[in-house]
Amino acid sequence: MKNNWDTKYGKWALVTGASSGLGTEFAYQLAQKGLDIILIARRKERLEEVAESIDNNYGRETQIIVQDLSLQDSVEMVKSAVGEREVGILINNAGFGLVGQFHTFENSRVSEMVKLNCVAPAELAHAFLPQMIERGKGAIIFVASTAAYQATPYFSVYGATKVFNLFMGESLWEEYRKEGIDVLSLSPGYTETEFHQVAGNKGSYGAGAAQSHEVVATALVNLGKVPSVIHGKWNRFLAFSQKFFPKKFVLSTTGKMMKNMRDTGN
Ligand SMILES: NC(=O)c1ccc[n+]([C@@H]2O[C@H](COP(=O)([O-])OP(=O)(O)OC[C@H]3O[C@@H](n4cnc5c(N)ncnc54)[C@H](OP(=O)(O)O)[C@@H]3O)[C@@H](O)[C@H]2O)c1
Repeated sequence: MKNNWDTKYGKWALVTGASSGLGTEFAYQLAQKGLDIILIARRKERLEEVAESIDNNYGRETQIIVQDLSLQDSVEMVKSAVGEREVGILINNAGFGLVGQFHTFENSRVSEMVKLNCVAPAELAHAFLPQMIERGKGAIIFVASTAAYQATPYFSVYGATKVFNLFMGESLWEEYRKEGIDVLSLSPGYTETEFHQVAGNKGSYGAGAAQSHEVVATALVNLGKVPSVIHGKWNRFLAFSQKFFPKKFVLSTTGKMMKNMRDTGN
């Protein structure tokens, strides 16, 4: 499984939101590829469990940074904690969503979401790109969502934050590919993680739900090959096909789906 990712990109991978779901899986799969991992999230005990598992299973070094990335100056704190470590891969993964009618969201949660989902990824990329450029190698993954492929009534702010990640990844792919830096936007569809509980989404998506390990594998296989990737054939079909329907129809269908998810879990 080790195929010189440390030589290709650099010794350390920095993974935000590493305490659960896709972030934990990014940490495991990158450790398996021979990278040492910087784990960032707010829940220290969870990060310690992930670090222990990385040590036991892959024998890689880890650094834990307990940090709320929605806070002002959080990226400065991360940068100083990372110090001289060579960050070869940055995984901008931490994020959350809120399902519901826009005016019912607490204002503080709306700004927290925009800061975590948009400001932190942009600032982290800005912080670590210069050293990647200097070394002529590196990679950045922005975790977007299928919610970025059409507006999402009753998931409004979240969908908009994910458009930011989709476009950031695609733009930086073009800007830095000639400098040896691989940038990718990853768009998962419904994936079984804690995300839905945090978002207030009662839906389960049943057998259609993807598993974190599959989604992360899709990202790592496509890194350096394409600017963006949607996990899963069905999700790719939906993102593509909505272009052929009138906008009003797409908005009302997406809105009904999100409302049902919130209210009934169906
Ligand atoms: N699951 C899905 O269906 C799905 C679909 C499309 C896209 N995504 C995207 O995938 C990414 C990962 O989500 P997930 O599904 O793995 O959800 P998750 O299991 O809820 O994980 C979210 C991670 O973000 C961290 N986080 C939350 N708030 C934070 C903050 N203020 N500061 C630092 N870290 C914070 C959490 O750690 P702490 O709570 O310990 O801080 C956790 O590690 C997100 O960007 C999400 O938008 C998920």
